[in-house]
Amino acid sequence: GCCSIANLTVPNFAGLATASGAPSFVSVGLGTQNYTCSAAGTYTSTGAVANIYDIACLSGTPAFDTIQDTVLKSGAPKGAPLLGKHFFINGTAGLQPKWDFTASQKNANAFVVAKKDAAVNAPTGAQDVPWLQLSSVSGGLATAVYRLDTRLGVAPATCTPGTPDITVKYSAKYYFFGSS
Ligand SMILES: *[C@@H]1O[C@H](CO)[C@@H](O)[C@H](O)[C@H]1NC(C)=O
Ligand SMILES: *[C@@H]1O[C@H](CO)[C@@H](O)[C@H](O)[C@H]1NC(C)=O
Ligand SMILES: *[C@@H]1O[C@H](CO)[C@@H](O)[C@H](O)[C@H]1NC(C)=O
Repeated sequence: GCCSIANLTVPNFAGLATASGAPSFVSVGLGTQNYTCSAAGTYTSTGAVANIYDIACLSGTPAFDTIQDTVLKSGAPKGAPLLGKHFFINGTAGLQPKWDFTASQKNANAFVVAKKDAAVNAPTGAQDVPWLQLSSVSGGLATAVYRLDTRLGVAPATCTPGTPDITVKYSAKYYFFGSS
């Protein structure tokens, strides 16, 4: 990106293991968490899809702290170029999260498929999806990915079996460490 994040530190890991060193990318994601209604009458996750925007140039400004709220209200952020997409693939270990920056980075290896290592409840409340710590299973985009500062994305507590799949809008900051 255009702005250095060499000295950026993550303000709050909320009890997740902290990453060492500076992130290689800092971003905001805006998209949906997707759910299907199970026979038991509860929603289960079928993945998510989000656009991922580079917020390096917002770091050190007040806009950085509130970008996850701003995008929910106003959509794609100003001054934050699209880095790529977050979505899920049906991998060897079932549904696996992937972040794909290959187009923006002009690098076929600029993706990461990850596994979840830890989750903590969002400090902001049960309306927001948990904060996550993930590690790479393939790709060169990152060795570690964090989903922090989440907003919304949680499914209703119950559903009527047979009703259609739902999507729930969400945003979050994604920090990437250890690009190769
Ligand atoms: C990062 O911090 C170091 C040490 O304080 C400093 O020399 C360097 O200029 C800083 N880099 C940026 C991009 O702010
Ligand atoms: C999630 O829902 C969005 C919006 O309907 C859709 O475009 C996307 O393909 C869905 N993704 C998954 C993994 O189900
Ligand atoms: C994963 O595979 C299952 C079973 O084939 C399918 O129902 C589901 O839509 C797939 N999900 C994604 C995100 O491709």
